[in-house]
Amino acid sequence: MKLVTCGLPYANGKAHIGHLRTYIPADVYVRYLRLKGEDVIFVCGSDSHGTPIVVNAEQQGLKPEELVGIYHEHFQKIFKELDIEFDYYGRTDSGYHHERTKEIVQRLLNNGYIYPKEIELAYCPRCERFLPDRYVEGICPYCGAIARGDECDQGCGKHLEPGEILEPRCKICGTPAEYRKQRHYYFRLSAFKEFLEKYISDLRGTENALNYAKEWVRGELRDWCITRNLEWGVRFPEDEELVVYVWVDAPIGYISFTEKACEKLEKDWKEIWIDGNAEITHFIGLDIVYHHCIFWPAMLKGADYALPDAVVASGMVKVEGRKFSKSRGYVVWVEEDYLKSGLNPDYLRYYIVNYTSHQRDLNFSWHVFRDKVNNELIATLGNFIYRVMHFAWKNFGKVRMEVDGEVVNRIRKAKETIEDAIERWEFKEASDAFMELAGFGNAFFQSSKPWEVIKRDRDEAERTIASALAVVRALAVLAYPVLPRSMKAVAETVGMNPENATLESVLQIPEYVVVGKPDVPFERIDDEKMEELEGIMMKRIRDNTEGEMKMDERIGIEEFQKLDIRIGRVVKAEKVKGSKKLMRLEVDIGSEIRQVVAGIAGEYEPGQLEGEPVVVLANIKPAKLMGMESDGMILAADVNGKPVLLKPEKDVRPGARVR
Ligand code: MSP
Ligand code: ZN
Repeated sequence: MKLVTCGLPYANGKAHIGHLRTYIPADVYVRYLRLKGEDVIFVCGSDSHGTPIVVNAEQQGLKPEELVGIYHEHFQKIFKELDIEFDYYGRTDSGYHHERTKEIVQRLLNNGYIYPKEIELAYCPRCERFLPDRYVEGICPYCGAIARGDECDQGCGKHLEPGEILEPRCKICGTPAEYRKQRHYYFRLSAFKEFLEKYISDLRGTENALNYAKEWVRGELRDWCITRNLEWGVRFPEDEELVVYVWVDAPIGYISFTEKACEKLEKDWKEIWIDGNAEITHFIGLDIVYHHCIFWPAMLKGADYALPDAVVASGMVKVEGRKFSKSRGYVVWVEEDYLKSGLNPDYLRYYIVNYTSHQRDLNFSWHVFRDKVNNELIATLGNFIYRVMHFAWKNFGKVRMEVDGEVVNRIRKAKETIEDAIERWEFKEASDAFMELAGFGNAFFQSSKPWEVIKRDRDEAERTIASALAVVRALAVLAYPVLPRSMKAVAETVGMNPENATLESVLQIPEYVVVGKPDVPFERIDDEKMEELEGIMMKRIRDNTEGEMKMDERIGIEEFQKLDIRIGRVVKAEKVKGSKKLMRLEVDIGSEIRQVVAGIAGEYEPGQLEGEPVVVLANIKPAKLMGMESDGMILAADVNGKPVLLKPEKDVRPGARVR
């Protein structure tokens, strides 16, 4: 038996294509395993807890369970529409999940892996409450960036323990927080160092995840505060005032959802999670490797549960070459951008698995998307399948399957390449292999010219079409995990059902095949649709970047201090001949007189400037403008594209630094 899980999406916002990089490849993997005849259970569900959900619900005037309900439904709908089929999709605010979490935490307590400790915690005197995780903002003690309570998300990315953040402020009311003492509970992660070193050296999975894990386990493993002052979450057994940290209960969802799946499938979950008789594989993104390779196995070990066998981590998704950012508009929403446009879900499944190796970062661009769909799915795969089916249907209806030996070899090779690639979670290699087989089929069909041959030799034409049909039937199975909707339709037209086919069956060729009236498997994406989709994205990016400066673009004081900005005084000014915009200035910057060429001649006259103070960036690299060297830059406000010069509020000597 095998268990495959996916990182649980926070039920706190809509699905975007970044999420899909976990779910689509996992679904593809499960479908390939089933084609290989494996008995697989596939589970996932909503991560319902954590402070962002509480804060968000509070802001929207909802109860946390109501907010979770909305996004729980949303994700289920998205998965259904993209043919991502879990055996069970649960939510972590369910009774059964709370029970399992409490049982595991109790075991950790009994086994001595959880201990109490008095710590200083951020407390808001105005709201009269402790400020867990995202209720508090302040400065990262490691890198000085603005951080939130549990994570330095804009700076060094470190996980922050309660009480570590500097200059804490309440996120709700902005009041500076005080530190107050309170008793909290720690998980003794440090006790698992030796265990983890051994475990990680045996763990299977993608190199990216394993390399990080090996690196971390060599360093210090700090004990981990696992309780929070919140109402929403799983109650901590020893203290009813506290709930467990969301990263304690979330992965336990893998277990509790397996229990529910097993109820449905009449299987025994204990065989998987206690006896360790199943292979457990976690699919996640690179952002949550620490939680899955360090925290989680230590918790399982400490509670005497079975351990995962493999962690498969995808690279991160970028949009149009930029880091994924919801706040800056670099995002593609699955429902409103993709599905609402009526695009075939198989296109996105193909793009996500075929763009690059699973471990690498993936760039989403509508243009590349269109090209991959039109040139690969349609011109190669769809075109071949349709031509063959159409020719067979029109001229034969029922085809005697006398298939060329070389064609059978090609099918076998594609099947073996796919099996090997799937073992290594190289979904691109697998999908390239079926695409290559389609390319071979195209060339074979094209060079055999059955449409000409049939005029003189019907038997020979039938043999050609039989071989081509064998390729089509193989493709309907081999490409099915990636393109389930389209390949199911193709399979049915050539008398197969991929849902109970096996990879082996692509080599078993029946005596006859009856071909039904075919449909075109894929529709082209036209330019109009392309413009519409890009338009939506560009508008969103514009709307989000204007006016507001985003946190992750901020710089540190060190960077600012690299700028040598000084007060200068214009000694001489003259318009540059032959230019409407440029003015040549001689500026006294205290230590010397500099020649600066500035684009201000449209707005200022030389007479207005001589003797006046200006603000100069003195250490910018010199540049040539209309053949003249400009050694410095005059600072001005941009008012609808026109410069308005800055000057100090009082009389200041030239050379004074601006800081
Ligand atoms: N709730 C946690 C996971 C708990 S697992 C016990 C979480 N949720 S999430 O909604 O942020 O992400 C869900 C999944 O999508 C995770 O596997 C995550 O790695 C993946 N991705 C979310 N955004 C992503 C990208 N931009 N790129 C690639 N994958 C990312 O994390
Ligand atoms: Zn930091």
